[in-house]
Amino acid sequence: MNVNSPAAFFVGNIPVFGNLILSPMDGLSERPFRSLVRKSGSAMSYTEFINAMDVLAGIPRIQKKIAYYEFERPVVFQIFDDDPDRILNAARQLIPFQPDILDINMGCSAHHVAGRGAGAGLLPQPHKVASIIQNLVRNLPIPITAKIRLGWDDHNRNYLEIARIVEDCGAQLIAVHGRTKAQGYSGRADWDAIAEIKTLLHIPVIANGDVQSVANIQRIQTHTRCDGVMIGRAALFNPWIFSYRDRQQVSQKEVKLWIDTHLNEMIEFHGIDQGLILFRKYLKRLLSPYQLNEETILPLLTETDLDKFKHNLDLLFNSSLIFKP
Ligand SMILES: Cc1cc2nc3c(=O)[nH]c(=O)nc-3n(C[C@H](O)[C@H](O)[C@H](O)COP(=O)(O)O)c2cc1C
Repeated sequence: MNVNSPAAFFVGNIPVFGNLILSPMDGLSERPFRSLVRKSGSAMSYTEFINAMDVLAGIPRIQKKIAYYEFERPVVFQIFDDDPDRILNAARQLIPFQPDILDINMGCSAHHVAGRGAGAGLLPQPHKVASIIQNLVRNLPIPITAKIRLGWDDHNRNYLEIARIVEDCGAQLIAVHGRTKAQGYSGRADWDAIAEIKTLLHIPVIANGDVQSVANIQRIQTHTRCDGVMIGRAALFNPWIFSYRDRQQVSQKEVKLWIDTHLNEMIEFHGIDQGLILFRKYLKRLLSPYQLNEETILPLLTETDLDKFKHNLDLLFNSSLIFKP
């Protein structure tokens, strides 16, 4: 992520200096975690997805979802909805907050999203995909991108059609999670399908799904020839993956420093009580590579007093932690 080196790829006219990117993750890729990961090597910052209806209704929690630090640029706001006009209107309201790029979620498999025709629910509606992208490209001053899955289910893997539409309608990048909606997060991500999309398109293609280690990064790059690699769940137990380090290479001291910094960011962002409670979901995942029994982990994950929490953490990290086999 060195701005003096050439860009890895461009999103329209926006250079991206690096090819590893933190996935958007609802409830997780908010500013505290995302900005730390950005510092550790992720090349651009996607917000968690934002409901267009919430934007139009002026729901206050949107402010937190779109908060970012200047150093995180390029910043991508991700929107979901099933209605082209509502998406455009919401996007227009978000433009004053100065995102660099606007992304449309065409991958969410959750019932309350896909079930109403948004997220992955857009994949069986190619005409709507075309309207959404065209509408945005014609009316907004920033690049438009999309994040897709391979299709609704095994019988409807229309990823080539969708990818072609996204590009033909003027989008400037596509990220592909190599699973269908029906798969959810089960089975293996199909990297062959991502490679097919890369062969077909001229805009940058970001490969996503099942990258868990540095070796996987190299494998997916060789396999798909994609312009970038997006990493989601593995970033939660190994945020150092963005600097090409596997978790076993990260010292206990570095993990503790990460925890302290992340906790401070969470408290600054959410306030002490909420910050501490929300921090637990990250801590649980970050500690998951270590062999820890319930008696050790449970008091830590249920502590509500900040000083006691910090004290317990210090005790834990003053002992020798052993990785799971
Ligand atoms: C908890 C969670 C929340 C997610 N939220 C979003 C989201 O808001 N927008 C999105 O495009 N994808 C979302 N995803 C999907 C991820 O971006 C990614 O496509 C998926 O996890 C596969 O990548 P991975 O194998 O590296 O985790 C989410 C995934 C998880 C696990």
